[in-house]
Formats: sequence, C-alpha cells, structure tokens
Amino acid sequence: MKRFKNKVIVITGAASGIGEATTRRLVKEGGKVIIADYSKDKADKLAEELTREGADVKAVYFSAAHLESCRDLIDFTKEAYNRIDVVVNNVGGTNLQLDQNIETLDIDYFDEAFHINLRCALYLTQLAIPIMESQGGGNVVNIASIGGITADFRGTYYGIAKAGVIGLTKYTATQMGKKNIRCNAVAPGLILTPAALSNLPEDMRKLFIKHNSLPYLGEPEDIAATIAFLASDDARYITGQTIVADGGLTIHNPTVADITEKFIRS
Ligand SMILES: NC(=O)c1ccc[n+]([C@@H]2O[C@H](COP(=O)([O-])OP(=O)(O)OC[C@H]3O[C@@H](n4cnc5c(N)ncnc54)[C@H](O)[C@@H]3O)[C@@H](O)[C@H]2O)c1
Repeated sequence: MKRFKNKVIVITGAASGIGEATTRRLVKEGGKVIIADYSKDKADKLAEELTREGADVKAVYFSAAHLESCRDLIDFTKEAYNRIDVVVNNVGGTNLQLDQNIETLDIDYFDEAFHINLRCALYLTQLAIPIMESQGGGNVVNIASIGGITADFRGTYYGIAKAGVIGLTKYTATQMGKKNIRCNAVAPGLILTPAALSNLPEDMRKLFIKHNSLPYLGEPEDIAATIAFLASDDARYITGQTIVADGGLTIHNPTVADITEKFIRS
C-alpha cells in the first residue's frame, strides 16, 4: 500500500515513540517525512537509517516550546519540498511533578503545559494552511489523549490542554473544510512507548490491562496505523473527528472490571 506516494508529511516529536512509529509507517507507504524533534541526535539517527533504506526523509531540530521553531519548521519544509500534504501534531506531554491535581498544581506551569500541548499544534496548523490551500488541500492529524476526554487524578493541565486539542480539531475541520483541508485527532489510551515503559511500574500496567476491554496494551504501531488511516484518502469523508484508540478503556462503566472480579467470576 503506497497511500502517501509523493506526499510531504511533517511529524513533530518524530524521533521516538508514537512519532517514530508514524514516521516508519508513512515512509513505508511512500511518504516523504520531515522528522521534527528536539532530540536532534535521535532524529538524525532515524533519518540516516531510513535514508539508507531508500526513503526520502529529513531530520530537523524542532522545539515545541518556541513559536520561532514552528515557523522555522514550516519554512524549512516549504523550501525543501514546496508543499505540505500532512501535518501530524504529535508532540505533547507534561511534567507530572508540576502538573498535579487542582489543589497542588504549580500555577506557573500553566503557560508551558498549554504551549507544548495546544498552542504549538494550533500555530503549526495555522502556518501550514496557506501552503495547503495553495496546492488544493491538505490534512492535519492531532494527537490528543483519553486524558482530554475523561478526567484523571493528576495531569490536570495535560488533560484540559488535550481537551483543547479535540476542540481545535473540530474548529479547524469546520473552518477549513471548504478549502479541502481535513483535520482529525487520535486519542490514545496507554501506549507502550519507551517513555511510558520507563515511567510506568509493572503494577500500574497491570491495572490498565485489568480495566482495558482488550487483553493487551497498545503499541506505538497501533496509533501509527490510525494516524495513517486518518491522513490517507481512505478517510476522505472523515473530518473533525477524534478516534479513541485505547483498547476499550473508556467505553464502559468504570466498575465493570471490579464487579466482574468480585461478583461474577467468584
Ligand atoms: N504514550 C502514551 O501512552 C500516550 C497516551 C496518550 C497520548 N499520548 C500522546 O501521544 C504523543 C506522543 O507521545 P509519546 O509517548 O510517543 O511521546 P514521547 O514522550 O515518547 O516523545 C516522543 C518524541 O517527542 C520528542 N519531544 C518531546 N517533547 C518535545 C518538545 N517539547 N519539542 C520537540 N520534541 C519533543 C521527544 O524527543 C521524542 O522523540 C503526545 O502528544 C502524547 O501526549 C501518548
């Protein structure tokens, strides 16, 4: 399947985790990918590997915390390829030391958390729109989180900024639809990226498996496949949607696993 032949794709946070899996997937399907990441070493390494295999990719230093870096990324892509078919706004995350619950969170962390998770995606989209419009259309895929749909015991900024990403997706899709620009989002549940694997103790992972409907946790490739679908012409009639890819964690009454364990199986 070469759904991205001759397509130019910008992916932020592309050097590892979900971004890396998406880079590999879209390259495999013929796409030309700009690997944008603040870990330039990792981005270079990935670009070298994929280039050796015949891919057309470029690694670029990109810091989601700076608007200037967003401008540089879009300028670089325009100069290199003179088009942008897809933007994958993948960068996101939070500092859980500062982003606690509403009683204890650090109010001074607000701007940074919202900048990285929301403002950067909004600005990159705004910058890419004129280029997409001039070429007759384009496509944006935002990476949200189930934290933007259901609340958690901490990560308050992260969750409400990701809720903003879901809103941004609908606004972009509504306002840009007539320009043939689609915009959708993916809301992953727990995905076993290197970061998640190193931060999440075994006991916590077991809890997620217990409450997932499916008997396993997600891999970065699962999200990459969903992004590839949304960014491809297979999804040409889908816009403004958020696809939840969480193994069924959030589809049910939260007591299901406990009641099944205590009252049904015993
Ligand atoms: N992993 C999960 O369980 C999970 C769940 C829900 C949502 N998400 C979302 O998916 C996206 C990707 O998550 P992940 O777990 O693959 O990420 P990750 O933490 O593994 O990071 C991916 C890449 O982004 C780069 N990066 C991080 N911050 C950056 C910044 N400020 N500027 C530039 N590059 C930066 C890192 O160097 C890394 O290469 C994020 O938006 C995250 O919120 C992840």
